[in-house]
Amino acid sequence: MSWNFDDIKTQLTADQSAVADAKSLESFRVKYLGRSGLLQQIYDSMKTLPPDEKPLVGKEANVLRQSLEIFVNDRKKVLESSDSKPSGFFDPTMPGVAFSVGHQHLLTQTMDEICDIFQQMGFSIHEGPEKETEFNNFTALNIPDNHPSRDGFDTFYLDEPDPKQKGARCLLRSHTSPGQIRIMQQFKPPLAVVIPGKVYRPDAVDASHSFMFHQIEGLLVDKDIKFSDLKGLIETFLKKFFGPEIRMRFRPHYFPFTEPSAEVDISWQEGKKDWLEIMGCGMVHPNVFKAVGYPDGKYTGLAFGLGVERIAMLRHRINDIRYFYQNDVRFLEQF
Ligand code: PHE
Repeated sequence: MSWNFDDIKTQLTADQSAVADAKSLESFRVKYLGRSGLLQQIYDSMKTLPPDEKPLVGKEANVLRQSLEIFVNDRKKVLESSDSKPSGFFDPTMPGVAFSVGHQHLLTQTMDEICDIFQQMGFSIHEGPEKETEFNNFTALNIPDNHPSRDGFDTFYLDEPDPKQKGARCLLRSHTSPGQIRIMQQFKPPLAVVIPGKVYRPDAVDASHSFMFHQIEGLLVDKDIKFSDLKGLIETFLKKFFGPEIRMRFRPHYFPFTEPSAEVDISWQEGKKDWLEIMGCGMVHPNVFKAVGYPDGKYTGLAFGLGVERIAMLRHRINDIRYFYQNDVRFLEQF
């Protein structure tokens, strides 16, 4: 009798895939490797084969035996290791495998929350470019040519001329206030906007300084806006953001683009010792209105600028600004 080993292999593959448990494995073993199994039949038949066919059939039979033994042994091990559980068993009481879910960065969360509060009060959100002109960043904001903040040490200048001002250059905005100029050039009052974004200053990096940080600018312009509107707005915002217990004070200050100007300090404790500066603000300077082409004396406005990192640090008692930018998961997942 001659054997068709191709047919045998096809049948074998089908039988192997039908092996699902110990019982079917045993019948598989008996069928192929058993005392009167297929392999034995092949060996038995060899006695009657013509001598020139013997080595060929013998070789095929040996290869077959080897692969059968490997399959049976391997499958036995696999079935034994999962023996205690019926196949397809699902235990709903086992704890699940939790996937870690990402979330927004604390700075993004803080900016969104601040913008939301102002949005609820009727402000809309605008963003301006990080690459600005010297005109928008300084000149239109009534910052004189000799003002120290124009110095290269306080501003990153770019190797590109300012198209709006002769002899001036482009720069990375050093505050979000140029956003005020862009808004007023584009829209007529009444307007109420907040402008969140990144700002850049060539500061040496330490626990409280970074060459890049985030600000949110606010601008409200209409007829008859008063300093009391500014105080009321800031007070409402701070109470919403930090809670009704927050204490605050307006301390006179100077900014070239607002007059009068103030800095706002907050404190959680009674007593004057730990006031923390949180933002700058004031009434829009008439020269700023002039720079954007608003008619003389028609409008008044209020403006403020707050540091997002500083606010997040105060609220969450974070003592080093560098944590925000290192993207260490141990820091990020706390918030
Ligand atoms: N631009 C100021 C700063 O960066 C903050 C500010 C904005 C002050 C608007 C007054 C009005 O310090």
